[in-house]
Amino acid sequence: MLLNLAQKLMLNIDPESAHNITLGSLSRSANTPLQRLYQQHIPNLPVSVMGLNFPNPVGLAAGLDKDGMAIDAFYAMGFGHIEVGTVTPRPQAGNPKPRLFRIPSKHAIINRMGFNNRGVDHLVMRLIRKQSPIVVGVNIGKNRDTPLENGTLDYVHCMQKVYAHADYITVNISSPNTPGLRSLQYGDLLDHLLLTLKEHQHQLAQKTGRYVPLALKIAPDLKDAELEKIARALLQHKFDAVIATNTTLAREPVAGLKHADQAGGLSGAPLLKSATDIVSALHQHLGEEIPIIGVGGILSGEDALKKMTAGAKLIQIYSGFIYRGPQLVKDINTVISGVSSGV
Ligand SMILES: Cc1cc2nc3c(=O)[nH]c(=O)nc-3n(C[C@H](O)[C@H](O)[C@H](O)COP(=O)(O)O)c2cc1C
Repeated sequence: MLLNLAQKLMLNIDPESAHNITLGSLSRSANTPLQRLYQQHIPNLPVSVMGLNFPNPVGLAAGLDKDGMAIDAFYAMGFGHIEVGTVTPRPQAGNPKPRLFRIPSKHAIINRMGFNNRGVDHLVMRLIRKQSPIVVGVNIGKNRDTPLENGTLDYVHCMQKVYAHADYITVNISSPNTPGLRSLQYGDLLDHLLLTLKEHQHQLAQKTGRYVPLALKIAPDLKDAELEKIARALLQHKFDAVIATNTTLAREPVAGLKHADQAGGLSGAPLLKSATDIVSALHQHLGEEIPIIGVGGILSGEDALKKMTAGAKLIQIYSGFIYRGPQLVKDINTVISGVSSGV
């Protein structure tokens, strides 16, 4: 009840302030008696993906806790995993504000945050301090002012820094808010990036005696032929997973509504169909060889089920969590466990 009230209050103030206040409160209350306010028990629904064991298939998508400030709080809410980041080698401020907009009537968000984060060294410090056993993925990117031709070096730098502290690492080449980033999804640039990162993964695994899986996060705005090429590259380079999808540049589903013309990526309910179609198409190309993590537009347990029916082994939420809070984690798990037990 108190939590519902806080949630409603937050939806009525400026989105970025609400975000910062919430994350700060979660960070301070985790591992204290106040944690009871949002703690919830989620029955075990174990799933093994990328060689990792997840207590349930619902994860927090990247971008909400970019600097790993509240990892233990999200564990207390019952998330099966959390993806922190996107983190870049050097801290950066991101785009000028305002850069985050809600479209409540559609349960949607438009953002052009631009990888605002405190840099990889700060994130590593936060990962060392976490107390809970939650599975943590670290989503890595490039600094805005790193020329695209040197982008691979930024990914390698982040990967080397976080390797010992991550359960898996996500290579984000699909944010629409870093100029040129999405061009890494195509042709030689993609090939070179995947090849280089797999080589470094191999070296790091030998050095540390621990294999940390690599996932690629892609955009929903890809044509069939482009998606097929990405799938082929993933198979060729033996990537460990693919995350589909990031936010979309499309605006038709929110056309005419307040904020619809803001630049950036659209997420939330209007993304569900196109992001799920990408999961289906990927599943056709990849079969069971490379697991798919489905994200985009999940606002209910039924939406999550659509992703899993399309071929996703795990799912992640961001916008749905903003509109529905921790209850959504519970709802999704209830629906999924009902289906797996044949209820
Ligand atoms: C405000 C905001 C910031 C985001 N930042 C990142 C990010 O830093 N890295 C990333 O890979 N995805 C980022 N995303 C994309 C989400 O992880 C997710 O892929 C997308 O929002 C679709 O899921 P949803 O419809 O459940 O929100 C961000 C999304 C939002 C709304």
